[in-house]
Amino acid sequence: MFNFDEVIDREGTSCVKYDKREMAFGTKDILPMWVADMDFKSPPCIIDAVRKSCDHGVFGYTFKPENSDTAFINWVRQRYNWEVKREWISSSPGVVSAIPLTIRCLTNAGDKVLIQTPVYPPFHSSVKGCGRELVRSPLKEENGHYSVDWDDFENKLKSGVKMFILCNSHNPVGRVWSMDELQRMGELCYKYSVVIFSDEIHADLALFGNRHTVMASISEEISSITVTAMAPSKTFNIAGLLNSVIVISSPEILSCYNREISTLHLDLGNLFSHVAMEAAYIYGAEWLEDLKKYLEKNVDFCHDFITQNIPAVKMVKPEGSFLLWLDFRKSGYSHNEVKDRLINISKLGLNDGLSFGSNGKGFFRMNIGAPISVVREGLERLKRAF
Ligand SMILES: Cc1ncc(COP(=O)(O)O)c(C=O)c1O
Repeated sequence: MFNFDEVIDREGTSCVKYDKREMAFGTKDILPMWVADMDFKSPPCIIDAVRKSCDHGVFGYTFKPENSDTAFINWVRQRYNWEVKREWISSSPGVVSAIPLTIRCLTNAGDKVLIQTPVYPPFHSSVKGCGRELVRSPLKEENGHYSVDWDDFENKLKSGVKMFILCNSHNPVGRVWSMDELQRMGELCYKYSVVIFSDEIHADLALFGNRHTVMASISEEISSITVTAMAPSKTFNIAGLLNSVIVISSPEILSCYNREISTLHLDLGNLFSHVAMEAAYIYGAEWLEDLKKYLEKNVDFCHDFITQNIPAVKMVKPEGSFLLWLDFRKSGYSHNEVKDRLINISKLGLNDGLSFGSNGKGFFRMNIGAPISVVREGLERLKRAF
């Protein structure tokens, strides 16, 4: 019903994915399949709402309207069976900004903060940038499937870690963590008094019948130590509008977070982003269902194509979102040779696996949130070099 096949020229729109190619890859002559936004138009309900707000013509100071919170509360109740109280809700321009903000609130200089590698690069840089000690618990990889190394995870928690940054679902390995896995992680954090920052920005994009579980919805104990970050930005392709929802049921953590965000004067937000968020959560469900079907087809297509045509590259289907974690370790090329071939022979812009942690060596991340014609072109290019 919605047209995800339309190829839209994004060049010259100050778009990171296209207009920063030269900076990232040393050349503009590549097909960009890196930065995690999609090449699709946002749903008509969002475009209409933003247009209406634009037509009003006065763009003065704004604040997040109650309706937006109501829409969010209903959205997560229906989708995740999660009961959020209005007074638990705060905000942040982006999910990433909320990470250092929370680190600053809840830990002190030099404290240990845990992440599960390979993981989204800002998890690493936020911890380091705040002058905290980065502790890594590498995920266990078996035949392309990633899981928690429970002994390592618990040993790290025990070692004096103060905060754990969870990626739920996981970028880049594509795991939609199961309820059991989350419960076990959450209970261990509770046992060792470790606060959880649960980045759930990819929640709405669980694919192939996988169900997203909100970490904080598992129990009151886990909720009491968890800061949850969600957003309509990945789901509805509105990352450039900058708006996310932060949910904190602990009054102490919430008041500390709110103090920080209002000190930075980041609490008012952006007029268009509020309008977009409200429209997304009230009217966006139908578009989202179509999008997910389209993404599933893209994933299936990539899997078939790679399996049949590029034996040097291994792909395991992600359980959610639009990012493929491609394994080049059996290609016969070193990591740097793969990188060089991707840019210079395939003329493809993928994310370097090493930016997600040292166990990302031999991997590159490919964004397939694009019309199938673009994805097909990307795969043909990949085949040229491998
Ligand atoms: C796990 C994860 N968190 C956060 C972000 C970005 O969040 P924001 O744009 O809201 O700062 C991304 C974008 O790729 C992501 O993958």
